[in-house]
This record gives sequence, C-alpha cells and structure tokens, in this order.
Amino acid sequence: MFRKFTISALAALALSAGAAQAAGSEGHIEDVDFSFEGPFGTFDQNQLQRGLQIYTEVCSACHGLRYVPIRTLADEGGPHLPEDQVRAYAAQNFEVFDAELDDFRPAKPADHFPVSNLENAPDLSLMAKGRAGFHGPYGLGLNQLFKGMGGAEYIVSILAGYTGETKEEAGTTYYENTAFPGGWIAMAPPLAGEDVEFADGHANDLHHEAEDVAAFLMWAAEPKMMARKHAGFVGVVFLVILGALLYLTNKRLWAPHKGKKIA
Ligand code: HEC
Repeated sequence: MFRKFTISALAALALSAGAAQAAGSEGHIEDVDFSFEGPFGTFDQNQLQRGLQIYTEVCSACHGLRYVPIRTLADEGGPHLPEDQVRAYAAQNFEVFDAELDDFRPAKPADHFPVSNLENAPDLSLMAKGRAGFHGPYGLGLNQLFKGMGGAEYIVSILAGYTGETKEEAGTTYYENTAFPGGWIAMAPPLAGEDVEFADGHANDLHHEAEDVAAFLMWAAEPKMMARKHAGFVGVVFLVILGALLYLTNKRLWAPHKGKKIA
C-alpha cells in the first residue's frame, strides 16, 4: 500500500515537473528561489526595499501601482520602512490631485501610489498574481506548493528575456522577448543592469535587479501572504489534532461493542 502510494506520488511529481517545462511553449519562465516561497517562506525586507527603489526610479516612469496604499510600506512583513521615511518618500516622489484643493499636492502616506503614466503600460499592483509562471497538473498544486505561483518568476523572466531583436509594426516598436507570450513585447528593455545604486552597495546587475523588483511586486500584489501561510499552517495543525481526537473518541465509544455477536 505504502509502496503504491510512493510510486503514485513520484509519478505526480514527475508530471508536474514536466508541465513546468511544457509551459515553455507559452514563453520561457525560469525558476528563481525566492525567500517567500514554500509553506514557511517570508518576504526579505531588504530585498523589498531594493525593489521599491527600482520601481520608483525606473518602472514608475510608465507603470502605476494604483491599488497599493503608500502607508503599507511601513507594514511589518513588508518593506517595513520607518513611518517618517514613508512620509518623506511619498512627498518626494509623487504628486496627487486633491479635489478639495482643486490642485496637485505632494503625496501623503494615506494616498495610493499613482496610476500608470503611460496609457498602454498596465498597472503593476496585481501583475505578480495575475500572471502565473508554472502550470502544474490541475488540482494537484504541487508546483505552486514547492515553487510558488510563478508570477514573480514571470516578471524576472520578462525583464531578463530580451534578445535584442526589434521590429516595427503599425508605428509601434516591438522587442523580442523569450518570456512574453507571443514573443514580442511593446515595452523597451527597462533594465540593463546598474540602473540603480543601492545605499548598501548590494549587487545591481540585471538579474539581481530583476529579482528585487519582482519580489517587491509580489509583495504589492499579496502583502498578507505570510499571514495567510501562517493561518493555513495553524489550520492544518488544528485539523490534525481534531482528527486524532475524533478517531480516539470514536474508538473508545465503540470499544465495549466491538467483537460482540449481534443477538
Ligand atoms: C518606458 C515605459 C516603461 C517602463 C520604464 C517600464 N515599462 Fe513595463 N511595460 C510598458 C509597456 C508599454 C507595456 C505593455 C507591453 C505590451 O503589452 O506589449 C509594459 C508591460 C509590462 C509588463 C506586463 C507583461 C504582461 O504580461 O502583460 C510587466 C510585468 C512590466 N511591464 C514590468 C515592468 C517593470 C518591472 C519595470 C521596471 C523595471 C517596467 N515594466 C518599466 C512600458 C514600460
């Protein structure tokens, strides 16, 4: 029985690994070991802060984060910036239109990040959840359990997936990209490596930058991931204990009647 189970579990694993490869037909997604993956994964606060810097200095020129309140940058489990830094960050980087003043004013922590500046650049608030990198066999969720949903990987793969080829179509330039479905994307390569300087001197080559900004966008899309995983774990432990108690109660309850002949 156990052997049979092991064999089928192995077969399922092999299948899901195969499916991750097969996703290549849709665009090539590379696997990245992010700190937030797995049942006990957590966001890396320093990585989120670096990602925020990249988003602010590079991506925000075109992309908005309209569903993300700026004050959440101070949240524990997220970038966890001190409150005064969040206030300074909001005021320095963004202006919002205030209907009461009928004018623009510097952003406050209570405001959301702005909307996209460029009409055809999608909002990035939910991008890391909207795109899945790995498609396991439906219903098993093994890839999702072991590798995460793959949305952050998708973003890394897009940012690092440019081949350098371009083409013109109806006045728009398209850039060949090995991760983008269809192979041609209308976004010029936003990162080349050494696009930002980190205060702590952290590596700023293309791949590190891509991972940092992808991690930040994963947090933006799912800021409560750690709390959710924690609640899920507590739930599983609870169910195991409850299951064991029910089993023992049941046994105990029927023990006097077991083995008796039906009269
Ligand atoms: C010069 C403007 C510009 C900048 C800067 C820019 N993007 Fe884009 N981005 C675009 C446009 C335009 C599209 C839509 C491309 C398309 O649909 O072909 C896009 C699309 C995307 C997509 C969506 C791909 C999809 O599946 O639809 C992601 C993810 C993305 N950008 C991430 C980023 C990140 C991360 C940065 C910063 C490192 C960034 N972009 C910087 C213009 C920009």
